[in-house]
Amino acid sequence: MKLTLPVAFCSLAAAFEVSSHGPSQVSHRDTSSFIHPGLLQTASDFSRITSKVSSNTEPWITGWYKLTNSSNINLDYTPSPKTIVYRGADGTHTENYPSLYRDIAAAYAMAIYWKVTGNSSYADVVVNILDEWSSTLTEISGTTDMYLAAGIYGYEFANVAEIMRTYSAWPSANLTRFANMMVDVFYPLNHDFLQNHHGAAVDHYWANWDLCNIASVLSIGVLTDNQTMFDEGLTYFKSGEGNGQIENAIWKLYEVDGESLGQGQEAGRDQGHSMLDFSLLGPIALTAYNQGTDLFEYLDNRILAGAEYVAKYNLGNDVPYTTYNNSDDVNQTVISNSSRGDIRPIWELLYNHYGVLKGLNVTYTKEYRDLVVEDGDGAEGGGGDYGTTSGGYDQLGWGTLLYTLE
Ligand SMILES: *[C@@H]1O[C@H](CO)[C@@H](O)[C@H](O)[C@H]1NC(C)=O
Ligand SMILES: *[C@@H]1O[C@H](CO)[C@@H](O)[C@H](O)[C@H]1NC(C)=O
Ligand SMILES: *[C@@H]1O[C@H](CO)[C@@H](O)[C@H](O)[C@H]1NC(C)=O
Ligand SMILES: *[C@@H]1O[C@H](CO)[C@@H](O)[C@H](O)[C@H]1NC(C)=O
Ligand SMILES: *[C@@H]1O[C@H](CO)[C@@H](O)[C@H](O)[C@H]1NC(C)=O
Ligand SMILES: *[C@@H]1O[C@H](CO)[C@@H](O)[C@H](O)[C@H]1NC(C)=O
Ligand SMILES: *[C@@H]1O[C@H](CO)[C@@H](O)[C@H](O)[C@H]1NC(C)=O
Ligand SMILES: *[C@@H]1O[C@H](CO)[C@@H](O)[C@H](O)[C@H]1NC(C)=O
Repeated sequence: MKLTLPVAFCSLAAAFEVSSHGPSQVSHRDTSSFIHPGLLQTASDFSRITSKVSSNTEPWITGWYKLTNSSNINLDYTPSPKTIVYRGADGTHTENYPSLYRDIAAAYAMAIYWKVTGNSSYADVVVNILDEWSSTLTEISGTTDMYLAAGIYGYEFANVAEIMRTYSAWPSANLTRFANMMVDVFYPLNHDFLQNHHGAAVDHYWANWDLCNIASVLSIGVLTDNQTMFDEGLTYFKSGEGNGQIENAIWKLYEVDGESLGQGQEAGRDQGHSMLDFSLLGPIALTAYNQGTDLFEYLDNRILAGAEYVAKYNLGNDVPYTTYNNSDDVNQTVISNSSRGDIRPIWELLYNHYGVLKGLNVTYTKEYRDLVVEDGDGAEGGGGDYGTTSGGYDQLGWGTLLYTLE
């Protein structure tokens, strides 16, 4: 498929580089230029996906049908943009954030559908969703949950726009308007949360709150070619104060049978949130990787140690556990079995990077990947396939189609 990029951003952008190079070629890039598209997919990823689908090759083709059978693929899709998105019951406003996550899921699915088929009718529906939101949304509000909305939907929405910037019929002014929305509405909350944690003790908010805001800052940085913003995300990941910083998010290491296991910060809370952390660590690391920085290998593959731990426990095995405490005195003396075995489409990304690309020992990550794939009849699904509430949309999904490597 020919890749055609819109004219460069006017108001936001420094020069950006158009490239189909994979990550191995980008490590010596100019530090002020970003690869586009370069969030969860690069141009070479789309080449692989398109070629595997065209040749009916498994497992990509099953992943493809999972996507094409999804109700997200719908040329009559009508977005429901809001002037103010509310997340969290603030006692006054009705929570309306499901409109945002549903619109993002539909837009992302159809953006991928367009990249693979080249059918521009779908691209038009996607850019309409983006345009409708960027001409309507002015604020994200509610309770402190607004920071979750800004983080999770921030990185997810940026991913849709990063794909659609390659659609030549989407005017650059419209891309700029969307990017300005990300910078003016989402980013200030992301930045504020990472700096101030809503005035709480720095260890009060669970790791996923920091992680989604890191993901959003990184993603908006790439979308808008803002190196300062991108570096803010990388710096926080390595040396931030809160629970999303990698040595806090995966804070206790064990060696078991020659394999490293890393206890996650939310292990004593519940397993749904424990796995949500990995639904965010995967995209954080892949986004950085696609821009030439390898966070997967950071601190001896720390993310893998955490993934192996959480997968091992959720598969029904015992894992070592150390009491977790914080300034709220949570005193969690045992691992939580609440929502143990939770199914989220987050494992293909981690399995393929660590197991296939790097050739590392991914015993439990692979086993959990297999479980989720089996649950999805042969492929990871996406938004709408894992329930209608927010948890089913906390991750973009479609991992079998998107992340399977040879
Ligand atoms: C749905 O999936 C099946 C394979 O499971 C495939 O044959 C069919 O074409 C798909 N339908 C659509 C609308 O993509
Ligand atoms: C695009 O998809 C629509 C709906 O499936 C179809 O009607 C249309 O013919 C397709 N366009 C092209 C150019 O293939
Ligand atoms: C671009 O945005 C303008 C202003 O909202 C809108 O009228 C137009 O339809 C959009 N164009 C495309 C192709 O999205
Ligand atoms: C990049 O983001 C930083 C942090 O928000 C901001 O101060 C700076 O103005 C942005 N740079 C550009 C070129 O927009
Ligand atoms: C990989 O890890 C598993 C689980 O700890 C272990 O049983 C297995 O021996 C390891 N395999 C290799 C090749 O190191
Ligand atoms: C947990 O930490 C808090 C705050 O530092 C402290 O007051 C409390 O005694 C600790 N609890 C345990 C069980 O250590
Ligand atoms: C922490 O929890 C354990 C187990 O419930 C309990 O025995 C212990 O007294 C608690 N510690 C504090 C300081 O509350
Ligand atoms: C879950 O953990 C609780 C508290 O440790 C324990 O009492 C209960 O038996 C466990 N349930 C299962 C199904 O393992």
